[in-house]
Amino acid sequence: MASLTGQRVLLCVCGGIAAYKAVELVRRLRDAGALVRVAMTEGAQHFVGTASFQAVSGEPVRTSLWDAAAEAAMGHIELARWADRILVAPATADTLAKLAHGFADDLVTTLCLATTAPMTVAPAMNHRMWLHPATRANLALLRERGVQVIGPVDGPLAEGESGPGRLSEPEDIVAVLARSAGAHAGDLAGLRLVVSAGPTYEDLDPVRYVGNRSSGKMGFAIAAAAARRGAEVMLVAGPVSLATPAGVTRIDVRSAAQLRDAVLAALPADAYIGAAAVADYAPRAVAGNKIKKSSDTLTLELVRTPDTLAEVAASPSRPRCVVGFAAETEEVEAHARGKLQKKNLDLIAANRVGVQGSGFESDDNALTVYSRDGARALGPAPKIRLADELLDLIAERLRA
Ligand SMILES: Cc1cc2nc3c(=O)[nH]c(=O)nc-3n(C[C@H](O)[C@H](O)[C@H](O)COP(=O)(O)O)c2cc1C
Repeated sequence: MASLTGQRVLLCVCGGIAAYKAVELVRRLRDAGALVRVAMTEGAQHFVGTASFQAVSGEPVRTSLWDAAAEAAMGHIELARWADRILVAPATADTLAKLAHGFADDLVTTLCLATTAPMTVAPAMNHRMWLHPATRANLALLRERGVQVIGPVDGPLAEGESGPGRLSEPEDIVAVLARSAGAHAGDLAGLRLVVSAGPTYEDLDPVRYVGNRSSGKMGFAIAAAAARRGAEVMLVAGPVSLATPAGVTRIDVRSAAQLRDAVLAALPADAYIGAAAVADYAPRAVAGNKIKKSSDTLTLELVRTPDTLAEVAASPSRPRCVVGFAAETEEVEAHARGKLQKKNLDLIAANRVGVQGSGFESDDNALTVYSRDGARALGPAPKIRLADELLDLIAERLRA
């Protein structure tokens, strides 16, 4: 049977028709060995009473931020700290929207914002609500931050319709949780990782810059996954519009030179993962004023930027594992292996950019990770899953 022995799970129940299944979910979580406490939204209380959850969890159930007696027993901040994992099930469209945008206007959303515990959501709703672009965008934001999403599944819905929107079965939710807890629980605890992510912008004048199309999603997914697995993570981020993953310390930079300084200052570390798309060249000089449209052609003189990856690998405080990324449009393996050798890297994760469903801006990716003695193909898969697979390879090397 799936095991969650000793795991403290805070189950947040929202106001959907599937709320009644959350009672069974508590029973299954406890059968798997978890300690369960339940918090309910106001909506959830229209579907199921607190007495049912109290009976199956054996613990008092929280329903409001403004409950003086409950706050005196275990305040919401302590409850948020108590949890090893937060599970929102069923997660309504409404609560998913609030979580995506950082609302804290009731007990459940406040708990979710006040915790650093990993979060899992199991959505359940009408299939049109599920497929609505607003819900899709909210889910994408949550996934980007490392939130685990289970289901929903296809099947008959409450309104007599059919489609994607049914809550995953309680036993399946428990099985997925147990698998992820067992697979990676704290396996990076005690390690310090420095990750760079995103593009760099090299200024030409006060309004223009030379940049690239990196979205930062891969590096942010790696930082989120590493923090979830217990590592201390320092994320050096180029200009991107991504939320900082839970438990990650972030330093924002703009140019390749700033990225270099921030990364070197963040050493020593056990591993450096250079996922940023750092500019190779920058304008020799930044014009003090906007460059005027005065001639038919304009020649820019570009000079080499610092090679942070090579510097980290040659540094006296070289991390035990230095990982580079190679975004290539052709001859991927030859270029990646060349870079591995030349820069003295331990691993290089190569991807082909310029193809659909992979590379920059995409949520999915496919990587081939080269080392001196081999190659491993990862994906195609969502970047958050690839992040865990890449971290598995790094963890293997750090353990060796
Ligand atoms: C009978 C009924 C069933 C509902 N079922 C769902 C549902 O399955 N999923 C959902 O996202 N919203 C559902 N709603 C709408 C939510 O209850 C509503 O958006 C509410 O604001 C959710 O609040 P909460 O997320 O704080 O619990 C339902 C509403 C009613 C009246």
